Amino acid sequence: MMRDRERMRIERPWLWLGLIVAMAAIFVADTFTNLEIAVAVLYVAVILISARFDRPATVIWFGAASAVLTVLSYLLTPRGIHETGLVNGALSLIAIGATTYLALQIEAAEARVRQTQAELAHMARVTTMGELTASIAHEVSQPLAGIVASGHAALRWLAATPPDAGEVRRALERVVADADRAGEVIGRVRNLVAKAPPSRNRLELGVLIEEVLALTRGELRRSRVVLQTDLADDLPQLLGDKVQLQQVVLNLVINAAEAMGGLETGPRDLLVGAASDGRTITVSVRDTGVSLPPAAIEQVFEAFHSTKPGGMGMGLAISRSIVEAHGGTIYAAANHPRGMVFGFTLPVAGASVERQHG
Ligand SMILES: Nc1ncnc2c1ncn2[C@@H]1O[C@H](COP(=O)(O)OP(=O)(O)O)[C@@H](O)[C@H]1O
Ligand SMILES: [Mg+2]
Repeated sequence: MMRDRERMRIERPWLWLGLIVAMAAIFVADTFTNLEIAVAVLYVAVILISARFDRPATVIWFGAASAVLTVLSYLLTPRGIHETGLVNGALSLIAIGATTYLALQIEAAEARVRQTQAELAHMARVTTMGELTASIAHEVSQPLAGIVASGHAALRWLAATPPDAGEVRRALERVVADADRAGEVIGRVRNLVAKAPPSRNRLELGVLIEEVLALTRGELRRSRVVLQTDLADDLPQLLGDKVQLQQVVLNLVINAAEAMGGLETGPRDLLVGAASDGRTITVSVRDTGVSLPPAAIEQVFEAFHSTKPGGMGMGLAISRSIVEAHGGTIYAAANHPRGMVFGFTLPVAGASVERQHG
């Protein structure tokens, strides 16, 4: 969103020039016509058009400049009846003030629409995840039911006198086949989420992180988490899929918030950092929740591994697939003195191009 605005500002030098020229023309006409002629009301058009820059500061700038020029014209105009000029000038100033206010209102309404659209896009992604959850549960439950049935059959054949080794063997083969099927389902889901559709755009990771954090701000405040960021402002660009990388950052931030949400005591500090060594960018999400022992850390990226009552255990598995599809690595470690740090390292745009050509 912020980047779109910046692009608009840079891509529209002609609009700027046109508005400045129009203001100058109005100023000249206002100064060289009699005081009775209220040319200054035309500034209203300039202010309304300036709302198209989508920046409140720009609207205020044009409004203020219009007011100053109106007063200046009044003082500089040599001819006309002064009382009439004063009334006209006052009317023009009121019109300019009212228009600036209206233009700001319009700008704010448009900004709200854009914000809502961003939130809706996020909701759509979350909803897709929900639907995905239901279909995974359905697809995996079938082989699981098969495994249970075959397991019971194997136990019965073992308990029979004499035990039927052939039947036991066939039942165990069905167990293995069903387990393979469940594994395939999980693999397909991971590919689906992580790899489709793989777009590669130039991204500003700092902006991307800010956008994700903006979406989670309310949630973090509710769970009384204190958010701090340490984003280097000279981060190089990287090539990647914006939505997928947003998903990774979102997963890490939500996990950190959830880890601290259950704390009885202690600080709830979340530190999101991003830094670069020129070839790679490393993003880290540091919390003061619980520190996992090394054995548990090894398991967190596995699909369906969750220690939460309603947890899906897919967040980190999907995040790892996404990061690896981008040529990067994801990691987890204990934070000192408490909590965890989850992060990932991605190659910057130039470095990955080099690798493709070399
Ligand atoms: N910041 C964290 N602090 C402590 N444990 C974590 C953290 N992030 C993830 N975990 C552990 O890793 C598990 C898997 O996380 P994830 O794949 O996102 O699935 P889910 O959040 O659905 O449980 C969690 O259930 C939790 O036990
Ligand atoms: Mg999670």
